Amino acid sequence: MRFRDQYDSYLNHITNYLSESCFIYPSEPQQILFESVRYSLLAGGKRLRPVFVFDFCRMCGGDWRLASEFAAAVEMIHTYSLIHDDLPCMDNDDYRRGKLTNHKVYGEAIAVLAGDALLTTAFGTVAHSCLSPETRIRAIDVLATCAGELGMVGGQVLDIQSEQRQCTRQEVLDIQSRKTGALIKAACVLGVLAGGGTEDQLNAAQKFADHLGLAFQIRDDMLDVIGDAERLGKAVGVDENKNTFVQLYGLEVCDQMVCDHTNEALRWLESFDDTEFMAELAKNLTGRIY
Ligand code: IPE
Ligand code: IPE
Ligand code: MG
Ligand code: MG
Ligand code: MG
Repeated sequence: MRFRDQYDSYLNHITNYLSESCFIYPSEPQQILFESVRYSLLAGGKRLRPVFVFDFCRMCGGDWRLASEFAAAVEMIHTYSLIHDDLPCMDNDDYRRGKLTNHKVYGEAIAVLAGDALLTTAFGTVAHSCLSPETRIRAIDVLATCAGELGMVGGQVLDIQSEQRQCTRQEVLDIQSRKTGALIKAACVLGVLAGGGTEDQLNAAQKFADHLGLAFQIRDDMLDVIGDAERLGKAVGVDENKNTFVQLYGLEVCDQMVCDHTNEALRWLESFDDTEFMAELAKNLTGRIY
C-alpha cells in the first residue's frame, strides 16, 4: 500500500473510533463536558501517536485494528495534555489545531475538567480492550509511567520552571524527552504489546521512540520560529522565554540534530518486519511544516 493510503487508513480508523464511541452519553446532564472534550478530541491533529500504536502492532505481525483502544487511549492523553498546556497558567495559547483553545470556548474550569475526563477515560479504554488481561495491565503500567510524574507531567513541570533561567544541553534533553518523548514512547510500546512483539522488539521500540521523540520536539521548537501559524493551527513565536535547542544553538544546528536523531531512530527499526511505512514516516517528520 502506498504511504499516504496507509496513513489515511490509520487516520480514518482512529478518527471514526473516537467520533463514534467516545464521550457520547445522550441522557447525562453534564453535556457541556462531553461537548468540550469532543471539541478538542475531534479537532483534527496529525494523530501521530495512534499511527505509532497501529504501525508498531502491524510491524510485529499483529492485527492493528485490535489496537484501537490502545491508540484511542494515547490520543486521549495527548489531547488532555494539549488542553492543559494551552491554559493561561501554562503556555497561555489561544489557538490549537486550527481552532480556539478549549478554555477560550468553554472557560478554564471546564477545560481543566475536560482534560481530567480524557486522562481518566484513557485508562478505562485500555481496560476495555479485547486484548489479553496481561497485555492490558502492561499497557496501563506503561501509559501511567510515561504520562505521569516521571514522564510527561514531570517534563511539563521542568519546562515551566525552566522559564526562569538558562538550562544546560542535558537539562533541555531531559525536558524534551519527558514532556514529548515519553508519550511517543508509550505509543510505540503499546503497539508492540498489542502486536504480541518480543522483549527485543519492546526494547527497540523504546530506543526508536527516544530518538524520534527528540527529533519531533526539536522540529516543533523550530516551527515556532520558521512555521506558519495558519498551517500549524497554533500561534508561532511564543517560545522566546522557553529553553529550547533553537534558543541554545540556532536553527541550523537544530536541523542537523533532527536528522541525526531520526537516523538513529531508523536504526532501531531493524528489529521489525515490513518497516517501509515507519521509515518513511520518520523521514517525512524531519521536514514537516505542521
Ligand atoms: C503537539 O503535538 C505538542 C507536542 C508534543 C510538540 P502534535 O504536533 O503531535 O499535535 P497534533 O496532535 O498534531 O495537534
Ligand atoms: C507540549 O510542548 C508538550 C505537551 C503538551 C505535553 P509545547 O508547549 O511546545 O507544545 P505546543 O507547541 O504548545 O504544541
Ligand atoms: Mg508547553
Ligand atoms: Mg505549548
Ligand atoms: Mg511548541
